[in-house]
Amino acid sequence: MKIGLDAIAFSTSKYFLKLSELAAHRGVDYAKYCVGIGQKEMSVFPPKEDIITLAVSAAEKVVKQTDAEKIDMLIFATESSVDLSKSAGIYVHRFLKLKNECCVFDVKQACYSMTAALRIAKNHVQCNPHSKVLVVGSDIVKYSPGSSGEATQGGSAVAAIVSADPRIMEIENFSGIYTSDVMDFWRPINCNEALFDGKLSAYNYLKSLGICFDQYMQKSRLTLHKIDAACFHAPFCKMAQKAGRQIFAEEYAHKNVDDSLIYNSLIGNSCSSSLFLCLISLLDNCAKNLSGKRVGLFSYGSGSVAEYFSGIISDSYRDMLTPRENASALKNREAVSFETYEYFCSNPAPTLNQKYETSGAVYLEKIENYQRIYKNLEENFS
Ligand code: HMG
Repeated sequence: MKIGLDAIAFSTSKYFLKLSELAAHRGVDYAKYCVGIGQKEMSVFPPKEDIITLAVSAAEKVVKQTDAEKIDMLIFATESSVDLSKSAGIYVHRFLKLKNECCVFDVKQACYSMTAALRIAKNHVQCNPHSKVLVVGSDIVKYSPGSSGEATQGGSAVAAIVSADPRIMEIENFSGIYTSDVMDFWRPINCNEALFDGKLSAYNYLKSLGICFDQYMQKSRLTLHKIDAACFHAPFCKMAQKAGRQIFAEEYAHKNVDDSLIYNSLIGNSCSSSLFLCLISLLDNCAKNLSGKRVGLFSYGSGSVAEYFSGIISDSYRDMLTPRENASALKNREAVSFETYEYFCSNPAPTLNQKYETSGAVYLEKIENYQRIYKNLEENFS
């Protein structure tokens, strides 16, 4: 039975900061950002938007494309969770009005978490071929202002439906996986911003890639030219490009890695969803017809767990995508000033008079007695 992605979509903030603006305020040469790390803009998030509101707006798009009655599992992947106990997925379940006979839970392992969620989803469908699983990866990435990670902040949610006979991509059964205990990036409880050792993280990313890829090639018995296109976890675009060159060397240009990075270069790092944002960018922007082609995917989550796996693109994939809507959603975002960015960074509480909009109809109205109160503009209930 073929199992994989039957629908996929993303959402990000309606606001972004130009990295030229950040560079000017930090006294950094803009070329370091746009050439050195390959980033042009980063999504920034107003007080009423969080990983849950983002997740709902991405998930709505894929739930519309499927028989929602068949969704009996929802897995929420995140490393910027808003609660240590309650699953963020329960809010998504409520706003999407999914049936109660549905297993909902969160998974965490830094940026690897959405890949872990897909593994669980695939196994669930293997045992229950008529089931559909909603998988959402949603993260808002924050580093301390002025740190070397600042220009790589960002965030988005990617939602996918995993089912049998997928209309976008079958996930193949073999993969290479590597876990090692490395303190390269972490976010202690009560810290809003991630802590990191940038050089160690880049080293461990590339080391893990080498190990996973060798294992993948041994298990699959494929040769390099059997991989037609490739996506790599993109904490910043240059990292993914280095990864692509490490694996494909002079074949790099034929693997369409640069098509996969168009959205990430404008959104920044979105951790759990970053790799799948690369996949959407590849499928939306690659001029070649990818039907029947194999896409290699490298997932890396600091700490660290990494996996190299692959998928075969379905014949109908183009019918399931919305490249024009995606491009215009990014084009229509509003550029904020550096002062507004600093205001967003100060984690202000949401208030009624804030003018900033969320990516969809659901917004965080307030936090009261440590409870998050959400509203849906369309339904006006909390
Ligand atoms: P840095 O140390 O300030 O930068 O921060 P740098 O000095 O290494 O420069 C970066 C690149 O820009 C270099 O290119 C420079 O030469 C170039 P490279 O040598 O790497 O090819 N450069 C310039 N180019 C043109 N004109 C100039 C110029 N100046 C310099 N004027 C660093 C970079 C990645 C360390 C920083 O952004 C950082 O710490 N980021 C956070 C951690 C991170 O993203 N790590 C990536 C791997 S770990 C990962 O992917 C997991 C993660 O997503 C989290 C999770 O799993 O949850 C982060």
